[in-house]
Amino acid sequence: MGTYFRTNYDQLMKPLEKRMFSRIRSKLLAKAQGHVLEVGSGTGINFPLYTNVEVTAIEPDQTMRDQSMKRVKEASVPIQVEDGDAQRLKFADDTFDTVVGTLVLCSIPDPLQALQEMRRVLKSQGKFLLFEHIRSDNPVLGKTMDILTPAWKRMFDGCHLNRNTVEIIRNAGIEIESIHRMFNRIFVVIEGSNPKQSY
Ligand SMILES: C[S@@+](CC[C@H](N)C(=O)[O-])C[C@H]1O[C@@H](n2cnc3c(N)ncnc32)[C@H](O)[C@@H]1O
Repeated sequence: MGTYFRTNYDQLMKPLEKRMFSRIRSKLLAKAQGHVLEVGSGTGINFPLYTNVEVTAIEPDQTMRDQSMKRVKEASVPIQVEDGDAQRLKFADDTFDTVVGTLVLCSIPDPLQALQEMRRVLKSQGKFLLFEHIRSDNPVLGKTMDILTPAWKRMFDGCHLNRNTVEIIRNAGIEIESIHRMFNRIFVVIEGSNPKQSY
């Protein structure tokens, strides 16, 4: 299923994007500033939504990177897409003004390490703009997510349904400035900042 998922990601996501996600993405990305790092940019679904910024995007999967090239052309801002792993970023400390991650912390093998790396390359007081799905705090739904996750991970390329991503973000030392929970509290939009102390 891995290759199927990657090749057909846009088609599979289309109904959700149309009904729910595209509005959330637009609103969130309007807050991006300066030099933006987007991690796990996938097929570049966010690219046409950026305005008045410069974007460096990393995506480890070549199939998805290739698909994103058509959206680089549609974008109104300069976008550079590179191969890369969020857990080991190749950029210097304090390079970026904004870090964007959408539906990505569910898939990165070690999200805490990745967030710490994002903090390293983000300037002090730089912005985090995150849109993620998380484990439900409803005991029955949360337990169901735990049960489904092993099969889900195999079907959807390493995606975990049951991560406590808000806690992981806090543990990484990111200051959460606002958090909006939606769709039965299993999706979150988080704006955060990179506190001054060293990582
Ligand atoms: C569910 S897709 C989301 C794609 C896109 N961000 C979006 O909003 O539609 C998860 C993405 O995370 C990427 N990913 C997985 N592991 C990663 C890692 N270690 N570093 C960066 N990206 C990673 C995958 O290749 C995939 O593109």
